[in-house]
Amino acid sequence: MPALPSSVLVVGSGGREHALVRALLASPARSRVLCAPGNAGIEQDAPCFPVGAEDIAGLVALAQREKVQFVVVGPEVPLSLGLADQLRAAGIPTYGPGAAGARLEASKIYTKEILLKHRIPTAAAAFFDSVPAAIAYVRSRPAPIVVKADGLAAGKGVVVAASHAEAEAAVRDALEGGRFGASGRRILIEDCLIGEETSILVVVSGRDYVILPTSQDHKRIGDGDTGPNPGGRGAYSPAEVVTPELLARIDREIVGPSVRAIADEGIDFRGTLFIGLMLTPTGPSVIEYNTRFGDPETQVVLPRLETDVLALLWAAANGALRGTVLNVRNDYALCVVVAAQGYPDAYPKGAVLTFPPASSLPPATFFIHAGTVKNAAGQIVMNGGRVLGATALAPSLRQAADRAYAACDALQCAAKYYRRDIGARQLQRQ
Ligand code: AMP
Ligand code: GLY
Repeated sequence: MPALPSSVLVVGSGGREHALVRALLASPARSRVLCAPGNAGIEQDAPCFPVGAEDIAGLVALAQREKVQFVVVGPEVPLSLGLADQLRAAGIPTYGPGAAGARLEASKIYTKEILLKHRIPTAAAAFFDSVPAAIAYVRSRPAPIVVKADGLAAGKGVVVAASHAEAEAAVRDALEGGRFGASGRRILIEDCLIGEETSILVVVSGRDYVILPTSQDHKRIGDGDTGPNPGGRGAYSPAEVVTPELLARIDREIVGPSVRAIADEGIDFRGTLFIGLMLTPTGPSVIEYNTRFGDPETQVVLPRLETDVLALLWAAANGALRGTVLNVRNDYALCVVVAAQGYPDAYPKGAVLTFPPASSLPPATFFIHAGTVKNAAGQIVMNGGRVLGATALAPSLRQAADRAYAACDALQCAAKYYRRDIGARQLQRQ
């Protein structure tokens, strides 16, 4: 493997990217870490450049201008637009799949075809672009039933319909009503999997892979998993619902076969394969692949790694992952995401965030920014639905939750909102 890079560019502007920047800065290699476009929190840690995450040509030019030796791509859209292909073509090693690999997230129909072809456990499904055929299929399956737009829809392209009538309405909405735009011109209808969801993040390099520590996120806006499902409300690691025995089974039945299937399809995948799983009574079943780190899973997984994250991602990008063994801290990590009140519907921007002094925060507790920006007066203000997260590490999940909530409570902002029950399911089981 080539020597570790002396400079790294992280692409993106969310909490995931802030967590990546922090993890890369913690590397003993002491490489220069840059970010584009970043946010008000990332700016405090690393130089940020005002090039949008979807400006592919602009990012390649930036990487060349800054003589960056390595690029780590956070979000899915630039990956699906071929950013990693273009960077590699320019001779810059990149962590993140090319457009062919990113299609595993960008097209749910393509992914389902791969899952079925390679006999990887997943819900039975069929694909449609016409309403009558889709409705006939809905009626032939038991409710609940799931209707999904084919393309990227920022997590909003899925309807889990409790009844046939609801599923039929979702079919019409997508195919006739244009509810999901171009993403929904083709739909996938699949059986509903019942069980607990978990996310498995895998660092992949061709046929080699390393499974990162387990985690679980919280998707719905309200306590007790109620209300709309914008995703990204909080997360914790490890997810003890995934016992070592279950993880071995997931590796055997899902992760290994998925990595082999992707390689067999001729895709040289170098990046994160994020496998969304339902733990059903008959075993783990794939809900989806994402082709990037999860948000906010990254905020709890990376701080638990003792392994040098820069060396890990660099090895994956250079085809040198084989034999890598992770060192993981015993600590629990928990992240509570602060949203703007009203999210995911209308919510205010511009509310001023006043941070407690770092010295008053509990130990091993820090803010990871997402939708924040500096206003003309130099104050940090809310600039998105996911504003920031408080991540804490502690010897128990309870303590990690107490620390993260102490930080959220101490943050002053008139428009802050966060769930009060991140981690509750695992805490109740203990
Ligand atoms: P996706 O965009 O595919 O991750 O779907 C978003 C969410 O919808 C998932 O995280 C699940 O909560 C739910 N979901 C998707 N597919 C299914 C399924 N087949 N059965 C049950 N829930 C599902
Ligand atoms: N936490 C789910 C995602 O990143 O898609």
